[in-house]
Amino acid sequence: MYDLIDAARDVQSAAHVPYSEYAVGAALETEAGEVFVGCNLENANYSNSLHAEEVAIAEAVKNGHREFARIAVSSGRRDGVTPCGMCRQTLAEFCDDELLVICDEGDAEPPTEYTLGELLPNTISEETLE
Ligand code: THU
Ligand code: ZN
Repeated sequence: MYDLIDAARDVQSAAHVPYSEYAVGAALETEAGEVFVGCNLENANYSNSLHAEEVAIAEAVKNGHREFARIAVSSGRRDGVTPCGMCRQTLAEFCDDELLVICDEGDAEPPTEYTLGELLPNTISEETLE
């Protein structure tokens, strides 16, 4: 588990955060155990910045993966940051309610774990539109 947090920490060095100076890293693990990482990439117009989780999901999906078990999320402040509402919905497109969301609280505390279902209950999905 801590390996996944380490991956989420490591990728923060690639974050492009000149505006918020709040680096975020995400490490998404497939059911088969492969890990894809992403960091936030901000933009001068502010609104079309990419979030770390979005970048990680895009990397995994473009490499042919659609079955995920866990995601770790970490900020440079080690403040237990959770995926924002938009990222929760993006995760729900590819992951079921049981996806484990592991949030980095720093070295002095264990990470906080949630399921995606806890973070985003009763959401719209592909089944809703059938
Ligand atoms: N951020 C993420 O990368 N993921 C989240 O789900 C929370 C917010 C980024 C966006 C922005 O670059 C910075 O954190 C401050 O909001
Ligand atoms: Zn987000």
